[in-house]
Amino acid sequence: MSGEVTVVVGVQWGDEGKGRIVDVLANDADVIARFGGGNNAGHTLVVEGRKVVLRSVPSGVFHAPKPLLIGAGVVIDLANFVQELDELAAIGIDISRIKLDERAHLTLPYHVALDRLGEQSRGKAAIGTTGRGIGPSYVDKVARVGVRVGDLRHPERLAERVRAAVAYHEQRLVDGGVSIDPDRIVDELAALSPRILPHLIDGVELVQDVLARGGRVLAEGAQAAMLDVGFGTYPYVTSSHTVAGGACIGLGVGPTQVGEVIGVTKAYCTRVGGGPFPSELHDEIGERIRERGNEYGTNTGRPRRCGWFDAVAARFACRLNGVGRLVVTKLDVLSGLDRVGVVTSYVRDGRAVGVDQIGDDGVTPEITWFPGWSEDVRTARRIQDLPETARAYVQFLEQVTDTPVGWISVGAERSALIELT
Ligand code: IMP
Repeated sequence: MSGEVTVVVGVQWGDEGKGRIVDVLANDADVIARFGGGNNAGHTLVVEGRKVVLRSVPSGVFHAPKPLLIGAGVVIDLANFVQELDELAAIGIDISRIKLDERAHLTLPYHVALDRLGEQSRGKAAIGTTGRGIGPSYVDKVARVGVRVGDLRHPERLAERVRAAVAYHEQRLVDGGVSIDPDRIVDELAALSPRILPHLIDGVELVQDVLARGGRVLAEGAQAAMLDVGFGTYPYVTSSHTVAGGACIGLGVGPTQVGEVIGVTKAYCTRVGGGPFPSELHDEIGERIRERGNEYGTNTGRPRRCGWFDAVAARFACRLNGVGRLVVTKLDVLSGLDRVGVVTSYVRDGRAVGVDQIGDDGVTPEITWFPGWSEDVRTARRIQDLPETARAYVQFLEQVTDTPVGWISVGAERSALIELT
């Protein structure tokens, strides 16, 4: 009997609350794995009064005593990772179950510098990256000048690769007034090495052994479909494949091994950084959503741009990912609004256009309005507990995305979840 992979992905522009559903599904999983992105992701948890920010470790770390894998498709900043391990150990987490695929690529100081230089050179068209060196790390992977975590096992090879990569980027760094000493990077990596080596494994073996035994792999996505390097609002995207297919590439599983894909969406929409966001609210309603929803970047503290639910983008993302069920998060944040909008089409010269034209000149969003609800829904635990108007709103989201809603989250705490059968 073979097991299967369940993939959890965001279907908007990130920060949908993927950790909420990982929390629900983690108990049935035999391994929880991150398949892409790096420390551009952020997930804040408060455990016994201590704030812990997860960046590279899967959010499943708090939910079940299962192995946690940082997959081959992830790029990792080891100094940051060690700090994360220390923070987790300090609150009593058994960090020995955190495993790192040796194929994962390193994010090194020159990647961070190149990220900054890239943004500077883009000027007004800056992407608004998280500044963590994610894009340049993936570029190096594809350019075949990357350094992998497994290179730590071979100090000479590691030193050679770091030196070669710095030489490869030298002109750009010099032009940008950045001085990078490769030997210092090598020394820093050597100092971190004893902390990293015990976590290194062949991640493919771990995942495939679980599947061969009939077990379940929970693949936790980072960022979201509309930030996917291939299908998102390019070039205002991250540099990895954030869609469900990225789980295959980032973990080493075949498409036939994926069972279900679960898509996570907020009841409204947010985006951090630059790029088109047609349903953005520049008024006091946007401000209200930001405050009520605490829409500030976990990692960078940047205020998130807030807007109405974008059904065109979400429907596209559900198809792109093959989403079987949706999780709608933060429904409670919309309480108290007179009316709630949903972008139901994009129009140019009176004709509907596709999602690929988001942000093009002359393309405007069309909004469908719904009556709001005044009730506080944070205590709702069954669909019947929601006001009629909130229920109608969720039903509409199902209809426009053509995807059933499996869960609705109505508050920050674990129990604030409605499961639909
Ligand atoms: P990068 O991933 O740092 O290169 O940033 C590229 C784009 O993705 C920027 O618009 C970032 O704000 C966005 N981004 C990256 N990670 C996240 C995330 O975890 N949540 C929301 N947006 C993100």
